[in-house]
Amino acid sequence: MTHAEAASRAAFLRQEIDKHNRLYYVEARPVISDRQFDALLRELQDIEARFPDLVTPDSPTQRVGGAPLEGFVQIRHTVPMMSLDNTYSEEEMTAFFARLQKGLGREKIDCVLEPKVDGVAISIRYENGLLKHGVTRGDGQTGDDVTNNLRTIKSLPLRLPADAPQNFEVRGEVFMPKAGFARLNQEREEAGEPTFANPRNSTAGTLKLLDPKIVAKRPLDIVFYGLADASDMPVESQTDVHALLDRAGLRKADLIWHASTAEELIAAIRDLDEKRRSLPYETDGAVIKVNSFADQRELGFTSKAPRWAIAYKYQPEQAETRLLAVDIQVGRTGALTPVARLEPVFVSGSTVSNATLHNFEEIERKDIRIGDYVIIEKAGEIIPAVVSVKTEKRTGEEKPVVAPLHCPVCGTSVHRDEEQVVIRCPNPHCPEVVKRRIEHFVSRGAMDISGLGESVVAQLVDLKLVRDVADLYQLNELLLARLDRVGTKSIDNYLKAIEQSKAQPAWRLVFGLGILHVGAGGARKLLEHFGSIDAVAAAGVEELVQCPDIGEVVAQSLHEWFRDPVNLELLGRLKAGGLTMAQKEVTAASDNLAGTTWVITGTLSEDRETIADTIRSHGGKVSSSVSGKTTYLLAGSDAGSKLDKATKLGVKVIAEPEFRAMLEKTS
Ligand code: IVH
Repeated sequence: MTHAEAASRAAFLRQEIDKHNRLYYVEARPVISDRQFDALLRELQDIEARFPDLVTPDSPTQRVGGAPLEGFVQIRHTVPMMSLDNTYSEEEMTAFFARLQKGLGREKIDCVLEPKVDGVAISIRYENGLLKHGVTRGDGQTGDDVTNNLRTIKSLPLRLPADAPQNFEVRGEVFMPKAGFARLNQEREEAGEPTFANPRNSTAGTLKLLDPKIVAKRPLDIVFYGLADASDMPVESQTDVHALLDRAGLRKADLIWHASTAEELIAAIRDLDEKRRSLPYETDGAVIKVNSFADQRELGFTSKAPRWAIAYKYQPEQAETRLLAVDIQVGRTGALTPVARLEPVFVSGSTVSNATLHNFEEIERKDIRIGDYVIIEKAGEIIPAVVSVKTEKRTGEEKPVVAPLHCPVCGTSVHRDEEQVVIRCPNPHCPEVVKRRIEHFVSRGAMDISGLGESVVAQLVDLKLVRDVADLYQLNELLLARLDRVGTKSIDNYLKAIEQSKAQPAWRLVFGLGILHVGAGGARKLLEHFGSIDAVAAAGVEELVQCPDIGEVVAQSLHEWFRDPVNLELLGRLKAGGLTMAQKEVTAASDNLAGTTWVITGTLSEDRETIADTIRSHGGKVSSSVSGKTTYLLAGSDAGSKLDKATKLGVKVIAEPEFRAMLEKTS
């Protein structure tokens, strides 16, 4: 075979294999046998082995990627990945439809209903017909590049058919088919490995694996439901999107309904509920979307979700089981939470042996006793909960649950809050409290010190190597060598991750400190407003409440925290450790916006924080509310009340392209 012959044969084989993959995995109507398919694939592998220069990145032989990765690259979504508002009853659904009718000013509205696939959201970009990358939702703005893992999904085309659009970003849900999930768990159990609680967890866990060869052994699949940005695409409705998915060989939902009245919608929801158990993937509800994009544009977005779509969540499944014991968990704030240990029971696709009991007051209110038969409920991602007791099944042997008077870990007398609901261990040195605090500090949302998982943290605390978060920065090789079953490579990685965390923005540190009531959003706002942790620490309650989103309760909590000498000493050690204590100075990009004050609203191509930084770096000021002092309102796609106010006050409204042009102008 000459090189030219090989090249043309390889091209032919690729086309054939892609076609049969599509017929098998997307359209579920194979026309050749598995054996014939394998023969095609083997022939291609042989040619590529003889002529390695003929291997192309989209070749079906490349589905199982190369070497394991060190970690995932973060990619910023061009269009943020939002979520949907949820409804739980037919009444709420009717109310949603009434809002559509009001918003669009007519009776009948063509809506599309699709199953809500319970998997992991993904955004996939095709460029020049080739799979470019696939990114997880992450925080909605930035996600992990999991392309190599996605390549192992056989139904996912690496190259689009030539007659389909070639450049677009498509959104869908990666899932593990129910049957494949059951098989995987069985294999794991036999291998003595921990099993996954449900198909969604196993999907998320699989996508996080760094070795695509292991991923290739896991049965992942994908269903698509939309485009990241339809504005440049030849589509005017969700129905058009479905047609486009078909043309591109991208799998869409197996069942789709149309409805144009509230009654039809509810009928479709009920119909899906009857059929969803026979779908190959786990579903936790229905997604209802207004079909026409013109209508969608008219309805717009709230700050969190589109107004033109909603999710309907089905009633969670319930099961009966026995309460074997009640254990006590100690939280980051010292809160003692009762946890139910149950006789294992299968519900909504997984085996449940623990459930939350929320607090001791609830146990008393529901009169839950050890030994009782109880009803548990599992709603999608939520941890199962005990909802009621089968009192008629009591034998008299059941034992009441007694609220603890002492912390089960350190023995300190507990403290009850004013409403007597939360019971806390007041000992700041309680080893459990310290562990939870450190787990929070190192978590992804806070300082993001990867690798320091629960078991490492537990050892660090138990060995007294770490008493508080500042001690993390005193760790060295010698100290870490005392950890059980931790190799030099891991030690190296821990130390690196700890070192890198010093450069995390100061708001992450404030959030990581775990100050009562201070969330990530609040911490961001504090740093934005005060500029440095020192300035936050020095502020009085009246000054603190001047900061947007900081209310009386949060301000009080901050004030107390920063007045406690123990905390100040901790802060001092963190500062000495070289952590970032102030908002980064933004290097001036231009002074194009000097003398202007901006308010940002609506959905834009980047998150507000990033755009605010851009404005500041070009000399402008950013404010959170529209007033007479506002020069411009930068309005994205769902601008609401701020837009109204700006129009009323005569403030100039600017759209994003115009704003970008202002940045680039050379004076
Ligand atoms: S449409 C603006 N359609 O559910 C978001 N989402 O709570 C539009 N999901 O983020 C999403 N099946 O991860 C849509 N047929 C479907 C879906 C679906 C599952 C997931 C998706 C989304 C979340 C919304």
